[in-house]
Amino acid sequence: MTADIRVPFLDLAPPHQEIRSELLDTMTRVLDSNRFVLGREVEVFESAWAKYCDVTHAVGIGNGLDALHLILRAIGVGPGDEVIVPANTFIATWLAVTMCGAIPVPVEPNPETFNIDPSLIRGAVTSLTKAIIAVHLYGQPADLDELVAISTELGISLVEDAAQAHGALYKGKKIGGHGVAAAWSFYPGKNLGALGDGGAVTTNDPGLAEKVRLLRNYGSAAKYEHSVQGINSRLDELQAAVLSEKLRVLDEWNGRRASIAEAYTTALEPLVGKVEGSSGGRLLSLPVVPSWAKPVWHLYVIRVERRDDFISYLLSQGIETSIHYPIPPASQDAYKELARGLKSGFSVRTAGELVSLPIGPHVNQDQALFVISVCEAFFRR
Ligand SMILES: Cc1ncc(COP(=O)(O)O)c(C=O)c1O
Repeated sequence: MTADIRVPFLDLAPPHQEIRSELLDTMTRVLDSNRFVLGREVEVFESAWAKYCDVTHAVGIGNGLDALHLILRAIGVGPGDEVIVPANTFIATWLAVTMCGAIPVPVEPNPETFNIDPSLIRGAVTSLTKAIIAVHLYGQPADLDELVAISTELGISLVEDAAQAHGALYKGKKIGGHGVAAAWSFYPGKNLGALGDGGAVTTNDPGLAEKVRLLRNYGSAAKYEHSVQGINSRLDELQAAVLSEKLRVLDEWNGRRASIAEAYTTALEPLVGKVEGSSGGRLLSLPVVPSWAKPVWHLYVIRVERRDDFISYLLSQGIETSIHYPIPPASQDAYKELARGLKSGFSVRTAGELVSLPIGPHVNQDQALFVISVCEAFFRR
């Protein structure tokens, strides 16, 4: 197959080029305001983000990890407590728990959606369980009604890790306000990304919002008065201003992701499970979207046999892929003590099969069609 088309896995240059002059104006405005931390830009973005997420409060934080960590601290998670976490997630979900001195208790995902399987949660709950963190992995909402029902029944807080799912809908309602609070990351490659690190907490609980506000700013509500031992993790004015600007195009850019996902799924579905060529590499699965979910396609993750061959073949044709995630948290050295004795489940078994195809506002229609044709060629070889 020959083509001049190249498809980077992620390239922020084309989307940023589209709104370059607006971003430059925004950055100039912040420079001229001469105010860089906890000013008007952060307040404006917090209101806009709360409105977008259909919640009453948003609090700007320095990054997504701190947003999760501060939610856990604000709801009183501390040393010795247990927190249910997905077995398959980015390590930040687990780190937020251990940063509080608490213990992450992994629960395996539903094998079709890759999101935490609510039917396995009761079996993991003990008298020490304080919270459940549901990650809306790859931009697909977790099964929130089930999770809310479990958390209410057992008296355990439900926290949403929404770092990958800006704008996703669960039964027609935005994610971010279903549990006690939600944590967001605005890392540059996210669906809503800053030009550096950034994060937020959303909640409908004014008391919780106030605690997080205090904790993000050295535990201080009035200058040089510190009522609790907080940290320094504030969304800065420059990032807040950039995020307000990029929020204007979030739905449009999410729409582009959705069209690419639809094109991939329509074209590749007939190939799932088939071995038509001699290579023996099968397409094992495509993303499955439950009827109640409207994902925002942060990632488009498929499972393939002979993954290394597949990745090399795509790369030889100019297509970059990635893996989310090659090593689940429990198999990381960072958690080797904690993970001792854990049974290895779906997350570990499938980690060697996962591949993320390029998706994002930078991928145009020609590039998406090219990815499809190269995938088809591989599976039919
Ligand atoms: C699921 C998940 N949770 C939390 C985070 C942490 O966000 P940040 O990188 O902004 O700290 C990420 C970021 O990649 C993530 O993917």
